[in-house]
Amino acid sequence: MSEWNARTAVITGGGRGFGKAFGVALAKEGAHVVLVDIDAAEADAAAADIRASGGSAEGLGGDVTNEARMAEVMAQAAKANGGIDLLVNNAGLHSDEYGQPILKMGLSKVRRLFEVNVIGVACCTLAAHPHMKGRAGASIVNISSSAAHMGGSAYGDSKLAVAGLTITFARELGVDGIRVNAISPGLMLTDTIRKELPEATKARVQAMQLIAGDGLEQDIVDALLYLASNKARFVTGETLRVTGGMAAGV
Ligand SMILES: NC(=O)c1ccc[n+]([C@@H]2O[C@H](COP(=O)([O-])OP(=O)(O)OC[C@H]3O[C@@H](n4cnc5c(N)ncnc54)[C@H](O)[C@@H]3O)[C@@H](O)[C@H]2O)c1
Repeated sequence: MSEWNARTAVITGGGRGFGKAFGVALAKEGAHVVLVDIDAAEADAAAADIRASGGSAEGLGGDVTNEARMAEVMAQAAKANGGIDLLVNNAGLHSDEYGQPILKMGLSKVRRLFEVNVIGVACCTLAAHPHMKGRAGASIVNISSSAAHMGGSAYGDSKLAVAGLTITFARELGVDGIRVNAISPGLMLTDTIRKELPEATKARVQAMQLIAGDGLEQDIVDALLYLASNKARFVTGETLRVTGGMAAGV
């Protein structure tokens, strides 16, 4: 029997991209999956796809920065199995619009970037905590980025804060039996990246990798399945870089 049977995973930004892929994989393992997204229709559609393939899933609309809504979302998510076993803080702003230099973006965009990418992680963690406390094998996985380890962008700085919060929450929640880890993906060829990334940019980034070739969405799904599983039962406060070595360093 899978360790995910009768267990619930909440995934923010679950409507598409990595979030949806995490949901599909965890549902296949037997988990009840709750996809939370600011785009409620996308969350619903992604959950419907999972149910159509025989999985158990629900979609809920909500902004990860909205404290009252996240409290409602986590309470609803906890109903299926009497609590929450895994929270994946995946929702994040990383479009070109938010990847610009600070001088060009201006303060209001920088504020929103940090509000979603950083405060959103704290908001969802606090909202989920009462429903996770004391559950065997409970864990949180935050999605950081290779940009966090390379410096030089507001986006990377927001993701560096995610790596920092991962250690802070690991310290604070360890006493409740909750492990907290993060994944820093490098350049991963998701549908969006395949469609939008110019070949020259892809070549420039891949030249920094220590392993040649394309990073795939499945590489991040596999890292999540490891960190969230009992195989990682002694691992907490870590950020696992899955970058083909692009962000190697201390
Ligand atoms: N794709 C990559 O190569 C890559 C690399 C490194 C890190 N990341 C990180 O991985 C995460 C997911 O990336 P993706 O490529 O799947 O992104 P994506 O843009 O395809 O999906 C993000 C999802 O989050 C949702 N979202 C955005 N703001 C939200 C909010 N305030 N509240 C709730 N939901 C919100 C969006 O509606 C969307 O469905 C992000 O945190 C991103 O920074 C991605």
